[in-house]
Order: sequence, then C-alpha cells, then structure tokens
Amino acid sequence: MSALLTVSDAHISYGKVEAVRSVSLEVGANQIVTIIGANGAGKTTLLNAIMGVLPMKGGVTFGGEDMSRLDIEDRVASGLSLVPEHRELFGTMSVEDNLQLGAFRIARATAARSFERVYTLFPRLKERRKQLAGTLSGGEQQMLAMGRALMGAPKLLMLDEPSLGLAPLIVADIFRTVGELRAAGVSVLLVEQNAQAALKIADHAYVMELGEFVLAGPAPEIATNQQVVASYLGFQHA
Ligand SMILES: Nc1ncnc2c1ncn2[C@@H]1O[C@H](COP(=O)(O)OP(=O)(O)OP(=O)(O)O)[C@@H](O)[C@H]1O
Ligand SMILES: [Mg+2]
Repeated sequence: MSALLTVSDAHISYGKVEAVRSVSLEVGANQIVTIIGANGAGKTTLLNAIMGVLPMKGGVTFGGEDMSRLDIEDRVASGLSLVPEHRELFGTMSVEDNLQLGAFRIARATAARSFERVYTLFPRLKERRKQLAGTLSGGEQQMLAMGRALMGAPKLLMLDEPSLGLAPLIVADIFRTVGELRAAGVSVLLVEQNAQAALKIADHAYVMELGEFVLAGPAPEIATNQQVVASYLGFQHA
C-alpha cells in the first residue's frame, strides 16, 4: 500500500539554526500517526513545513503528488489541513462564521454538506452556532478549530497539540473524535505532548527529540518501550 503522506529527509531551519534534521515519515490511508516529544523538539516546525507555512529541504508527497513546490492554498486544495497549536479562531465572530471561513474555497452545496458533517461530529458546535467563538470553553474552541479544518473535507488532518490546556474529560472527548475521523476515512497526523493518550489511539508513532526522530514503530510497541515509558509515560496514569 502506498502512503498518503510521505516526508523524506526533511531539514528545516530558522536562519542558521537547524530545528529539524533528517526526518522521514509516512502516513497511510485511514491511519492515525502520532509524533510525540518534549517542548522544543521540532514538532510544530515539522507540521508547518508539511503545510507549506515554512520552507524545508527534502521531499513531501501527498496522494502520490509532489507538494514541495506548492503553496499553502494548493496544499489545502489537495486535501491537507492543519489545526494550529494556538487554534487561531476569530473570537469576535460566531461559531458558524468561523466554520464558514474554512469553507471559503468550496461550492455552496458542498459547504452545506460540510456544515452537516461537522455538526454531526460536534453537536455542541451546532447548539452554539450563533455564539461568539471567544466565549466558548477551551474544549469547544478546540472542536471549532478542528471543525473549521474539516470544512474543506481534507484527506489528512494534522493536529498540533489538540489536548493543550484541556481538562482530562475534554481530552478524552477530543481523542474519541479523532478515532471517529479515522472511521470516516480521514487520516490524522497527531502531534502531542500527552504521549499516553496519543499512543493509545494511534496506529503508528514517532518519537522526536532535539529535531530528530529517535524511535519509530507501531504505537503499541512504542507505548511499552522502556525508554519511552521512562521519559514520557512515567508520571502519567491510564
Ligand atoms: N520562529 C522561530 N524562530 C526561531 N526559532 C524557532 C522558531 N520557532 C521555533 N523555534 C525553535 O525551533 C525548535 C523547535 O520548536 P517547535 O516549536 O517546532 O517545537 P515543538 O516540538 O513544537 O515544541 P512544543 O511542544 O513546545 O510546542 C526550538 O528550539 C524552538 O526554540
Ligand atoms: Mg509545538
């Protein structure tokens, strides 16, 4: 089976500082792949480069197509979507208008279907559709950021720390939704510091340290790896 997303030998720099070195990864169709790693490991940098927000050296193919020369808009049109670390919602706009922004490049009939799909996935957003985004709870804002990214019906959703700052019950809710996305045929590339939750749901995992992947494998194997348990799972409880 050929991969949906392939990154090969990625190098990403901020000026003279190389933040990501020699990173290669694959995401298959209908897979949840996670990248875990500590603060500053380079996870956000990597997602931004895959999306075309940052330049990188190396290869990016998506659905067999070379993405490396495409700008962000064309990558979105190909089916890539990123939910950024800080969600970047428009707080003074309604839930519905924020979602509408995620649909700006698709036809009206398709947008209607997208609204339906997003509201089915997140009934809470439907209840609050007239409410201003800035007045939502943290969990609802994460749902809205994911919903907005889903409006364009992506084939791959990249999530940057979706659990950041959320209470455990809400985190469970968000991760359940990630599982539902896979069931609905959307692949997910999930960046998380919450290694415990990420490894539980993922098919495959990469461990990133200081700009490099130091370990990769099926998520259940990574979850029982001695070093991973010691460094990332030691203080958490199931
Ligand atoms: N705009 C920038 N300019 C210069 N250096 C940056 C910039 N953004 C990030 N870095 C550096 O690049 C490295 C990787 O940062 P990045 O934000 O990708 O890590 P991360 O794994 O996402 O961390 P976190 O878990 O805190 O979100 C860090 O050393 C960071 O200081
Ligand atoms: Mg980050």
